[in-house]
Amino acid sequence: VKPESVELCPLGTAAAPEQELLCIFGTGDLGRSLGQRLLQTGYRVVYGSRRPHSCGPLPKGAQVMSHAAAAQSASLVFMCVHRVHYNFLEMLAPHLRGKVLVDVSNNLKKNLYQEANAEYLQRLVPGSHVVKGFNTLSAWTLQNGPSDANRQVYLCGNSAEAKQAVAEMATKLGFSVLDRGSLSAARELEDFPLQLFPEWRLPLKLAFGLTTFFFFYLLIRDIIYAYVEQKKDISFRIMVSLANKVFPIVSLTMLSLCYLPGIIAAILQLYRGTKYRRFPDWLDRWMLCRKQLGLLALGFAFLHVLYTLIIPIRYYVRFKISASTISQIKENKTKEFDPTTAWRTDSYYAVGILGFGLYVLLGISSLPSVSNALSWREFSFIQSKLGYVTLFFCTFHTYLYGWDKFLRPSSYKWYTPPGYMLSLVVPSALLVLKLLLLVPCVDRSLTRIRQGWERTQPD
Ligand code: HEM
Repeated sequence: VKPESVELCPLGTAAAPEQELLCIFGTGDLGRSLGQRLLQTGYRVVYGSRRPHSCGPLPKGAQVMSHAAAAQSASLVFMCVHRVHYNFLEMLAPHLRGKVLVDVSNNLKKNLYQEANAEYLQRLVPGSHVVKGFNTLSAWTLQNGPSDANRQVYLCGNSAEAKQAVAEMATKLGFSVLDRGSLSAARELEDFPLQLFPEWRLPLKLAFGLTTFFFFYLLIRDIIYAYVEQKKDISFRIMVSLANKVFPIVSLTMLSLCYLPGIIAAILQLYRGTKYRRFPDWLDRWMLCRKQLGLLALGFAFLHVLYTLIIPIRYYVRFKISASTISQIKENKTKEFDPTTAWRTDSYYAVGILGFGLYVLLGISSLPSVSNALSWREFSFIQSKLGYVTLFFCTFHTYLYGWDKFLRPSSYKWYTPPGYMLSLVVPSALLVLKLLLLVPCVDRSLTRIRQGWERTQPD
């Protein structure tokens, strides 16, 4: 009996068995990379060029013709040409009638033109179906194929069939497609590659503002105060001591600012008695940048840990230890071991270490590759429950560090509280509010509201 044969066909030909012909206008980097990728996927490619006989090296297997001839031979044309050169298309309009034109162009700056490139193209060639897309990918990504971080292709256009054709082709190339609607969304897509870390802007500004504030606050309290009141120059402390106060203070404040919007949202929902009313814009924006706030806060905590590690090797610290030892020898008097201090210092180190360990876990689980592998329940367990435990440990660490200093009048130089006390305000308030929200009757109401129940308003 003849064994059943299995037909094996290479991936490329399986993806496009009929060897569809696609056209690319433009033989620059992007055009060449796109062509190579299309050929590898099994398409046939024809380039349209102003100088078909001298347009430089092109991917092996591609044809090159004049614009008009190339356009006529394919139903889908990629526009890999800069917007400033689009005007030649007006003359080609008859050849492009009914064709799908994929506009992959970008601009160097936002708002350079009144009209999006793709809308301008549609106006120049009204008989064609313009689809904006692929502009968020680099020539590099196109040539090497999609990888996890840049798998997404955004499309928009007025013709559903044209978008469908482009989406099918993008899927064959290995990208995942997101339809952003009609061609009026083109400007938004064209602005995407010009954005510079938009979701990091607010957290970075906040981190900068808090760092500057606490730096000057502590500079005045610690260094300038000593200079003015005690005529002592301890400016060397700026480098390590001051930094090792500013960084943990900013870290603790920012960590609590990650959790504050969640508490405000819960209070708003309880007050309104429904989850169906929109939060104010500022709260929405704040909620959306919590991850970045948390990652920056983790960065500051890292700095605090590194600065703490070098404390024993500091010249100033070694000098003070040996001076104290020498004075004990001279006076022939040994300092008493103080178990309370030992307990306090060991406790705040230990709690700090535990807090930092959980902090790192929070940071790791917020990375897309990790969070994508977690179920929603696992993610919210880490980010919410463990998040509050982290905040508690870090706050407790700072309380233990402060211990009874708040009772000493000498702590309030020029009537100002020490920096660490200021950093305790938001996290302490937050932890108290969280405890209040966990009171069974409040928790029950909030859970019901979040499950869709609404308190009926009296008429
Ligand atoms: C202060 C150790 C983690 C927040 C301190 C100090 C030490 C220390 C030695 C006193 C510094 C000084 O004398 O100037 C540690 C260790 C940690 C750790 C060993 C973990 C490995 C954290 C974390 C936070 C934090 C995760 C939270 C963000 C603070 C704050 C202060 C402080 C706010 C008071 C700063 C001041 O005003 O002097 N920590 N810490 N620490 N730590 Fe930590």
